Amino acid sequence: MAPLTNLLALPLLLLATLCPTPSMCYVSPAVARAQQDSTKTSTYRTYIVLVEPPPLNAKEEAYRRWYQSFLPSLHIADSVEPRLLHSYSEAFSGFAARLTDDELGAVAKKPGFVRAFPSRTLQLTTMRTPEFLGLREGTGFWSDAGYGKGVIVGVLDTGIYAAHPSFDDHGIPPPPAKWKGSCKTVRCNNKLTGAKTVIGGDSGDPDGHGTHTSSTAAGNFVTGASYNGLAAGTAAGISPSAHIAMHKVCSPSGCEGADIVAGIDVAIKDGVVVLSISISGNPGDHFDQDAVAIGAFTAVSKGIIVVSSAGNRGPFPRSVANDPPWLLTVAAGSVDRSFYAEVLLGNGRRIGGETLTQVGKPSSKPYPLFYPADRRFCENMDSASVVGKVVICVSLAAAFQDVNIRCIMVYGAAGMVLFNTKSRGYTVDLMDYNSSVIQVAAADGVVLTDHAMSAASSAIDIFTYSNTLLGVRPAPAVASFSSRGPNHVAPGVLKPDILVPGLNILGAFPPNTDNGMGPFSIMSGTSTETPHVSGVAALIKILHPDWSPAAIKSAILTTSDAVNRTGGPILNEKYGKSGAYDRGAGHVNPARAADPGLVYDLGITDYASFICSLLGQDGLATIAMRSYPRTITVRLTKSPFTVKRTVTNVGPAASTYKAKVDVPNSLRVRVSPDTLVFCRAGEKKTFSVSVSCHDAARHKLVGGSLSWVSEEHVVRSPIVASLAS
Ligand SMILES: *[C@@H]1O[C@H](CO)[C@@H](O)[C@H](O)[C@H]1NC(C)=O
Ligand SMILES: *[C@@H]1O[C@H](CO)[C@@H](O)[C@H](O)[C@H]1NC(C)=O
Repeated sequence: MAPLTNLLALPLLLLATLCPTPSMCYVSPAVARAQQDSTKTSTYRTYIVLVEPPPLNAKEEAYRRWYQSFLPSLHIADSVEPRLLHSYSEAFSGFAARLTDDELGAVAKKPGFVRAFPSRTLQLTTMRTPEFLGLREGTGFWSDAGYGKGVIVGVLDTGIYAAHPSFDDHGIPPPPAKWKGSCKTVRCNNKLTGAKTVIGGDSGDPDGHGTHTSSTAAGNFVTGASYNGLAAGTAAGISPSAHIAMHKVCSPSGCEGADIVAGIDVAIKDGVVVLSISISGNPGDHFDQDAVAIGAFTAVSKGIIVVSSAGNRGPFPRSVANDPPWLLTVAAGSVDRSFYAEVLLGNGRRIGGETLTQVGKPSSKPYPLFYPADRRFCENMDSASVVGKVVICVSLAAAFQDVNIRCIMVYGAAGMVLFNTKSRGYTVDLMDYNSSVIQVAAADGVVLTDHAMSAASSAIDIFTYSNTLLGVRPAPAVASFSSRGPNHVAPGVLKPDILVPGLNILGAFPPNTDNGMGPFSIMSGTSTETPHVSGVAALIKILHPDWSPAAIKSAILTTSDAVNRTGGPILNEKYGKSGAYDRGAGHVNPARAADPGLVYDLGITDYASFICSLLGQDGLATIAMRSYPRTITVRLTKSPFTVKRTVTNVGPAASTYKAKVDVPNSLRVRVSPDTLVFCRAGEKKTFSVSVSCHDAARHKLVGGSLSWVSEEHVVRSPIVASLAS
């Protein structure tokens, strides 16, 4: 038997596997340390500074005065620029301020100081879904959950284009009486019940990102929606009757950590129920220096479900961001829809691809193919070599290639075919070049380039267009850009959590931004899937108002689909079998998530003991200061490869579950007891799972699952084990 170095998953279950030793943590005012660069400079930076909270029930002005007492002056020397940028009261006990490193040194000496770290810039994660998720108007779960009626979904993003029909409030009642939000520069209605900015200016959306994500989470029904005739039909968010509260924290160029915390702060104060954050930090950021992680911890401790994106740094391992266990972290997959176009080669072979410009008439005459092997990305092309030809190039992210492609078409090329790099595989992430440009998978690129370079490259080519095809297979497949596990910071927590549509998604868009034309646009990225899960969480909250964020997360994870609709494995971007590091627990299944049978519930104390084991006392103080105003003690007990977990019966009162373990032979999993008999609703049962392993040399990473199976429910959790090499 080979030793396991590391038992990685049972995602919700194994929170504390990697702790070196059992330890005690407490949050106390004595914990104080500033993180400073050794190279002191006199330049101003934005620091997020944690301090002890002012006396309980302090008013907003008292917070501000307390925070200002840490600062050397109200304004930056020789200017009218205020030092204090944000004064937090809910998410955080602390503030954001402009300080030099020397000044920070002085701040750190004041009584009440806890910790400081520089605010960092985070990225927005962009680059026919309700039906694909089994939601149909007038049926079952969607109408049972009132289409999200009464839930307020907060969105941290680039702002919102309030006049869009997706944010019309027909059929939507006023927000609940306890809602405290408001709109600052636009008129609120029953759909858009909050629109605020923490970065100055108005709450409008100069980028389009926030409008798109808001509509995906909770856009109202809009009939006759399409993108230039593509994806035509009724557009709706996942929770079309829910209320939206936009908290503008990002400009088109990115989002400052200090502003994100300010957005979370306001969202908590106003009373959102779900918080959707399509923003990604840097993989490997420790939780105690990650603004989203810290702010979200407080939000979760107040019962708010926080959903965030895995990031767009895939398909490389360890690229996932937003990896604390209290976040619901979402990976992106494809949907069963294609904006199909075909290339007919001279040798009769057909190559299928996609394009967002379907307006072009099928070319009636064939054109020669041209593949500039020495300039594969189509850089520095001249008019003479491309005119009248179909030019084949390797596809890059639009930002790097947009100009080259437009130039080639202006020079008089008959069309272009862009093929994926090997690492992007089958993920065709569409850009609209407003001309005959077709995008194809990596494998088709090989066929095309061989053909173009062959002697018989009398190679000719004809395009035909099919508009929108549905029922495309295989779907879902994990998108290449979707960030992958394992979790950098806490390998014992499986990330991402769940797979959701995030490739070529139709959503609302403001008119005339740099990125598109509205009223609808098609976008890709883990940004576009995050709000899908926010919408699902809102629906579950309606049906189960008393469930904690952890219980709702558990319900979404344990009921997700491990296979596609025809029972085949969910594939990755190369059409190989996907693993838990690609897709988390599986593909979201909203209707089943509403009725999970059992949930793995976790309280804030469970998270606290996890933080303690990972980051020690200082880390816990930083993250949990706001949630545990004074002192809390948590104790960790565990043996490395056996974990105990507790499930709560949320299904029929009398039910019996049997453990079903599905792992490769090299892994041995023992579940004790292997039968759980419940007599009451709400009853809790604890079991232990121990994992050991054979044959370590041949399997570095082993995956499988543990399911609790009753007559009506399957409660499945992935198991991932990484072995000594
Ligand atoms: C797209 O191209 C057509 C003609 O080819 C033109 O009329 C239209 O204005 C273009 N749209 C954009 C957004 O550039
Ligand atoms: C399911 O997956 C298998 C292979 O993994 C694939 O052949 C099949 O087409 C997929 N079905 C759907 C509906 O995508």
